[in-house]
Amino acid sequence: MRVTRLLQLARNRRPVQNFADRPLPMDAVEAILEAARYAPSAREAQPWRFVVVQEALARHRLAQAAFNHPHLRSAPVIVVCCARIHSHVSGSGRPSYPMDLAAATQTMMIAAADLGVYGSWVYGFRESHVRPVVAIPEDVPVLGLLGLGYPDGLANLPERRPREEVIAWDQWRNEDVRRSLP
Ligand SMILES: Cc1cc2nc3c(=O)[nH]c(=O)nc-3n(C[C@H](O)[C@H](O)[C@H](O)COP(=O)(O)O)c2cc1C
Repeated sequence: MRVTRLLQLARNRRPVQNFADRPLPMDAVEAILEAARYAPSAREAQPWRFVVVQEALARHRLAQAAFNHPHLRSAPVIVVCCARIHSHVSGSGRPSYPMDLAAATQTMMIAAADLGVYGSWVYGFRESHVRPVVAIPEDVPVLGLLGLGYPDGLANLPERRPREEVIAWDQWRNEDVRRSLP
């Protein structure tokens, strides 16, 4: 298997325990958000709007909205990830904005890792408590909070499930029938 730079980043990813009391340089924050702008989205809808929260009181309220999540309590920057457009895929009409926002969030995590910055992805929050903190309109879904910062302690990455369990070749049941591609 070829070990790409991205694979190295993914494998070396470690969840943060807490964020250090150290500000993030603005050019790092901007680079992370620029990466998000280039994330893939269904029909290229780019349905996102990211509210970058730096102000201490607002960050504190966001952490409260996420049941006092320790990462959000210590993150110097929190990105509130919202879906400005209720994008959907053609054909099935299924909503695509949650997937699009997830792709953008993952893109930010990777861009952050490339800069030695850590991201903490939090989905467990009360949307109705998040919304007023940064004046998000009622019809705009909030799909995630991403704490960004330098780490103060890293946890171990949980063990990965074995390849045969998560990857099938050609058919659901096939664990190892790799073919050489043309
Ligand atoms: C969609 C999504 C939602 C998450 N929501 C939360 C959350 O609400 N609270 C939390 O502590 N971690 C949350 N996380 C972080 C995961 O728990 C974290 O990725 C995990 O602790 C590290 O292991 P992993 O390598 O499997 O990601 C979330 C991650 C993802 C991808």
